[in-house]
Amino acid sequence: MDLTDEEKRTLQGEFGEAERIAMRVLTRLGEVNGADRMIPVVSAHLVACSYQIAGEAGIEIYTQLVEKGARVKVPTTLDPGSIDFNKWEQFRTPPDYAQRQMLIAELLKKMGVLPTWTCTPYYLLNIPHFGEDVAWSESSAVAFINSVVGSRTNRMSAYVDLCAALVGKVPRFGLHVPENRGGEILIEITPDLAEKFDDIHFPALGYLMGEIAEDKVPVISGLRSAGFDQLKFLSAAAASTGSVALYHIVGLTPEAQTLEMAFRQRKPIRNIIVGAKEIEETIDRMSTFRGGKVDAVAVGCPHASVVQMQKYAQLLKDRRVSGGVQFWVCTNEIVEAISRKMGYCQEIEKAGGKILVGTCHNDCPLGAWQFRSLVTDSGKFAYYTPTTVGSQCFFTSLSRCVQAAIDGKI
Ligand code: F3S
Repeated sequence: MDLTDEEKRTLQGEFGEAERIAMRVLTRLGEVNGADRMIPVVSAHLVACSYQIAGEAGIEIYTQLVEKGARVKVPTTLDPGSIDFNKWEQFRTPPDYAQRQMLIAELLKKMGVLPTWTCTPYYLLNIPHFGEDVAWSESSAVAFINSVVGSRTNRMSAYVDLCAALVGKVPRFGLHVPENRGGEILIEITPDLAEKFDDIHFPALGYLMGEIAEDKVPVISGLRSAGFDQLKFLSAAAASTGSVALYHIVGLTPEAQTLEMAFRQRKPIRNIIVGAKEIEETIDRMSTFRGGKVDAVAVGCPHASVVQMQKYAQLLKDRRVSGGVQFWVCTNEIVEAISRKMGYCQEIEKAGGKILVGTCHNDCPLGAWQFRSLVTDSGKFAYYTPTTVGSQCFFTSLSRCVQAAIDGKI
């Protein structure tokens, strides 16, 4: 790799041991992936901030970095942690587990990392622009900002994301290179499906798209409109079943105003037609739980927006969650604060729901709840919770999720 004088001096330890280690990791990553040079990033977003991911090894790494004087060089935000920092007891988190998570929070704060604890920092807290290079982990957010915003990041991994934050740079390869951002697979939505495309179809399309595309760049054609939250669901599901880090939607996402633009003048290597039959089959496959008594209803994956909080409040108004069901909404502190000012949180809580802040079902220890059957409107939860929570999962629309919480069954 072609390194600047300053980068060479960083590698020699002139700016401290923490930066030396970080630069060593990044240049090695660049060499392995054929990068030509390092490029600056405007922000970073880290995943190894939850105790569930970081564990004791993470605490050891962060402790050593803090001792070596590590400080992030660019605005750096955090993915969800493993506890609701204010109400962890209410969510039956073991006290020793909560203490370890708080220690991680303290160590990250010492390095200058912002305690955002959310997988949707692009709402309010860390907003990259079109064409900007960033260093983000959290697969759902990576797919969202690459595709919907047009920022540029590879799917960073735990700790490598922190290395990028510590030097404010990444090696230039993969999705940082404009020529690599062209589409590879064409997914054509049939007109009959496009006509009735609804909220539930976005996570389902993402789920199917991830399976089809794996690590390729898919291009969707035929969709007529897509809202911010709908694209958030699509991104999260695609990044779960596949390792999709970038997709284009012709006419809707910024690097795909036309089909030719999406493919950067190249031909797709595969064409897939997705109609009502394919999407219904996918929705069916997304559920491992076929119906019966419901233990938990989980919404807010990725973390809910204020608009979604309003929807939950409206659907729960003057209703009551069944006694045997835990209805939890996952979101971040800022959305919670605004939603509380608007009375949405109070409406959800009055109905018997709980707001889980700064974490989610996949990140916190839920063994004490013994959830066996979980209902969700999230493709990402549908994919992961059978493993992370140990529950069978029923994927459905938001209104059916709420109805299942009221009835105690689906
Ligand atoms: Fe966010 Fe947790 Fe879903 S991190 S994307 S709410 S699995």
